[in-house]
Amino acid sequence: MSQNDNNLPHLDAHDVNIDRNPSSNSYIGDILQVRLSRRKALGGSFAATAAMLFGGVSLTGCASDEDESAPVAAAATGLTPPTALGFTSVAHSLEDLVKLPTGYSFSVLLALGDPIKSGVADWADDGSEAGDSYADRAGDHHDAMNYFGLGADGKWDAKASARGLLCINHEAITQSYLHGEAVSLAEPRDEDQVVKEMNAHGVSVIEIRKNTSGKFELDKSSSFNRRYTQDSVMELTGPVRGSKFTVTAFDTTGKKSRGTLNNCGSGLTPWGTYLTGEENWFAYFRRAAGDDSNPLRLATDVTLLKRYGMTQGSTLFNDKGWMTVTAADTAEQNRFSRWNAGIVGSSVNGSDDFRNEPNSFGYMVEIDPFNPAATPKKRSWLGRMSHEGCWVSRPVAGKPLAFYMGDDSIGEYIYKFVTDAVWDPADASKGMAAGDKYLDSGKLYAAKFNADGSGQWFELAHGKNGLTEDNATFPFTSQAAVIVGTRLAADTVGATKMDRPEWGGVNPATGEVYMTLTKWDGSSGRGQGSGLAVDAANPRSYVDVDGKMKKGNVHGHIIRWKEDGDLATATSFQWDVYVFGAEQDSDPATINLSGLDASNDFSAPDGLWFDPRGLLWIQTDDGNYTDVTNCMMLAAIPGMVGDGGQITVNGQKTYKGANPGSKMRRFLVGPVDCEITGVDMTPDGKTMFVNIQHPGETGGRTVASMKSHWPHSQSDAASTKRPRSATIIITKDDGGMIAL
Ligand code: FEO
Ligand code: CA
Ligand code: CA
Repeated sequence: MSQNDNNLPHLDAHDVNIDRNPSSNSYIGDILQVRLSRRKALGGSFAATAAMLFGGVSLTGCASDEDESAPVAAAATGLTPPTALGFTSVAHSLEDLVKLPTGYSFSVLLALGDPIKSGVADWADDGSEAGDSYADRAGDHHDAMNYFGLGADGKWDAKASARGLLCINHEAITQSYLHGEAVSLAEPRDEDQVVKEMNAHGVSVIEIRKNTSGKFELDKSSSFNRRYTQDSVMELTGPVRGSKFTVTAFDTTGKKSRGTLNNCGSGLTPWGTYLTGEENWFAYFRRAAGDDSNPLRLATDVTLLKRYGMTQGSTLFNDKGWMTVTAADTAEQNRFSRWNAGIVGSSVNGSDDFRNEPNSFGYMVEIDPFNPAATPKKRSWLGRMSHEGCWVSRPVAGKPLAFYMGDDSIGEYIYKFVTDAVWDPADASKGMAAGDKYLDSGKLYAAKFNADGSGQWFELAHGKNGLTEDNATFPFTSQAAVIVGTRLAADTVGATKMDRPEWGGVNPATGEVYMTLTKWDGSSGRGQGSGLAVDAANPRSYVDVDGKMKKGNVHGHIIRWKEDGDLATATSFQWDVYVFGAEQDSDPATINLSGLDASNDFSAPDGLWFDPRGLLWIQTDDGNYTDVTNCMMLAAIPGMVGDGGQITVNGQKTYKGANPGSKMRRFLVGPVDCEITGVDMTPDGKTMFVNIQHPGETGGRTVASMKSHWPHSQSDAASTKRPRSATIIITKDDGGMIAL
């Protein structure tokens, strides 16, 4: 979503033809093997990476004859990414259309409100659907997603390109398009409307198959299809499980909670499960003025609530007044009252109200796509923050795994979680049981980016690095306290405040980690009144002199780092800025530092994904260049940390990658008022899935006030239908691999 700044208002805002592995479909893993000139070049790490990315039980055997103590650098020579992009850049567009390069086509797979189960009525385009029906319909604001190949045995087949499960995040809602044109949204809120809004958030799992024409379709009869909503029971695992911080009237033992909220980025585990990030969850809660001084309110609670943006008496940008519902059935009242995080009970520990409910959000949540009966698990070891998503290091047999993460609020931090367990390729088929092994024990770190291009990881462990009971700001009395107060812990260790960390990704060819820093703009932007000056890793603060006249880091940048020794367990790294977002006609000395031109200029990078071939995909969630172009997706062939050099920008030294030039091109431009987010492809590289989020977000409920009619506008320029978030399927007309 746009404008996720902490404490800021929301400003902008399959039984047909089972064809598992048709011989006509080459498989990226096979191609890569051909590119490997020597078996030795596979290396333990590359083999494991290939196993994860390409389903290679067939490849994992290659790992055993490699010296596992050898640096992962060998893998850098294992995967040879394509050397050129095979499409012509898409021009800037302000049209209410999805634009693709010549020779590419798309279709809509799943849009807001579409039924995911048989027997559910089609979307009516008038908001008349009942709230409960959304437990069986696609939610709103499609965000990150992952494709999981589905084998004939009903299990993960990472080579399957004709049948799979898609896990899709539904981050937020646009109220205007969910409800009837004339209904009141006033408080106290109507129960059915709120049920609809709560159900429109969460996660969809759907089965898709190619039909006899070779086109993917949703199988509404699949038993895999399901929604996770705000009523879905989840388990808390890791340090916070059973702690005092998670005691609620719903579970006085503090081990369970309900719902996953504001699911933004995602993660794909090497064992075939889906990780969904809870981002702006805090902004759904409300606390009455005076709650801070309630005699039962602990000072430490107030510190925690404030650090996570939940000040008393505030109505935050995602607050739709859900707590104001009076349920017709009193037994249902807690579904709604839980969004009031103020103290209303008389207990000392919060067992009779929902004062601790916010502490059950802010996690990476693991879902087993292949096991609908498995209870999702909130893996608290990975920290509590505005989780954007989670991206795993290249798995190396016998070595720990690292999961890289960003906290997307202004000036927040970059983190990694390193597993205690070492990777065993035999776990690739073990689903949630593997999650229990790898994600419930390890070490959490926060990143510091130094002025000399080096960086450090500081461990966030109870008793270390100042994270002790006598900490002046917050008593870190346990690892549960460290986790529930992850931000406070990262403050303590001196992590670097970043320009809003969004998605990350690990380059399969090099192991280098990339992360988008979307922007920090406005009169309180970095270097513009925030009290925080620019630094080497966040070096720009400027005025966008044309168009929207914004200040700060207006267009964002993408940082990348290489772990020392190529080790997931490294405590130090080297970084540079891969690319600076900019308008192509802006000053090359201070703004357009990466020499972008009309074929590849962009603003506000958000989604980022390395495909299995090593191509990098960048998606934007922009409001600052939208006077010239709608949001977009670019493809790039990235270099390596250090392929550029040191530069000085307005007196601030920084490190910049080589200019991308023609190795970065615009592949897609979206419709009006949308964000492009969520991307994956089938293992054969021939079908790409992309999400178009909130087209027409800032429009109203009347036809006259709608700003977009996409996707219907794609086929009818005179459309008056409501705009809908949707998953689209992109293919190349000649049936070839995407982007090549
Ligand atoms: Fe949901 Fe940070 O984007
Ligand atoms: Ca501008
Ligand atoms: Ca995002």
